[in-house]
Amino acid sequence: MADVDPFANPEGYGFETRAIRAGQPHDPQTGAVTMPIHQATTFAQEAVGEHKGFEYSRTGNPTRSALEQCLASLEEARYGRSFASGMAATDAILRHLRPGDHLILGDDAYGGTFRLISRVYGEAGIEYSAADLTDPAALEAAWQPNTKLVWLETPTNPLLTVIDIAAIAEVAHNKGGLCVVDNTFATPYLQQPLRHGADIVTHSVTKYLGGHSDVVGGFVATNSEEVDDRLGFIQNGAGAVPGPMDCFLTLRGIKTLAVRMDRACDNAEAIVELLQGHPAVSRVRYPGLADHPGHAAAAKQMTRFGGMVSFELAGGRDVAMKMATETTVFTLAESLGAVESLIEHPGAMTHLSAAGSPLEVPDSLLRLSVGIETTEDLLNDLSTALDGL
Ligand SMILES: Cc1ncc(COP(=O)(O)O)c(C=O)c1O
Repeated sequence: MADVDPFANPEGYGFETRAIRAGQPHDPQTGAVTMPIHQATTFAQEAVGEHKGFEYSRTGNPTRSALEQCLASLEEARYGRSFASGMAATDAILRHLRPGDHLILGDDAYGGTFRLISRVYGEAGIEYSAADLTDPAALEAAWQPNTKLVWLETPTNPLLTVIDIAAIAEVAHNKGGLCVVDNTFATPYLQQPLRHGADIVTHSVTKYLGGHSDVVGGFVATNSEEVDDRLGFIQNGAGAVPGPMDCFLTLRGIKTLAVRMDRACDNAEAIVELLQGHPAVSRVRYPGLADHPGHAAAAKQMTRFGGMVSFELAGGRDVAMKMATETTVFTLAESLGAVESLIEHPGAMTHLSAAGSPLEVPDSLLRLSVGIETTEDLLNDLSTALDGL
């Protein structure tokens, strides 16, 4: 990373200002107010090894560096690294592990994370167990002499379970391990895991940070120089870096993160109320609900409860499958976190790879990624679909 600029300082500027300005000084040559897309793969050197901070774009690129500084500032982290996808970011963290090491994964996590851990790392000799991380005692019980880290999401994908980050980090630290938090669902606008004791925070920037369904990316932040050095080595050595255009798109998306998140939260709250009152719905999962088992932890570590809503249909799998095809404003699609609202059936779509595992999800479950459209349009769309089931 290049030198940190004043706009990256959380003590100097608020979240929204940093989202727009951190890491993005006006272009010294032209005064351009947005970060240029530096497509160059290589950078001139005055003499061998003497350069302006960049040599080769896999190792470092000015547009990527701007994104890394901006996101690190939003997570209030000392260091940040961008990757080509959320999975590439996950992979870079897991490369800390050696054959014979063990990790503990929350028993409710993104299916792709589980697939990477069980199939790719499992086959490379890394052991794992899944544990109910809503209970810190379950983590303690699952901890083994060779356990190196605990991996959690909160709220989880797709069950919206809330994990108390501070409680889990405390157990991990007492045992001499690391606590990694996937902060994709909450974003740094609603939750900053490092503040609660996490050692590493990771994102699929494909989701809320990009925010417009037009860029795939990943990010990792930490306050540990040692962890960051290793991540930097892997970032350059394995080379799963985002291109400059992708970094630019992500930077552009981040500028409106705060207003998009607030709007998505408003819409999600209205939808939760509608779903709760509908007879076709047997259960609504949303951390903002006072009777959600993780509500107290969510209220402690989040500023609002997010734009993701999951619910179960009383009629089971077939009715859930039907509902998923009956909406018009909600598009049936994988992914989440963008301006447009999406609906999906996790058991048959995003979490199919977890079928038959401890991470299998109920087949009556639907997941909504609530966007920023007109509230009435979203409510009408869902109630028309539910009434027709
Ligand atoms: C919580 C979570 N983490 C990680 C990922 C992986 O991110 P990507 O699709 O950008 O590789 C996803 C993707 O859906 C996700 O939902």
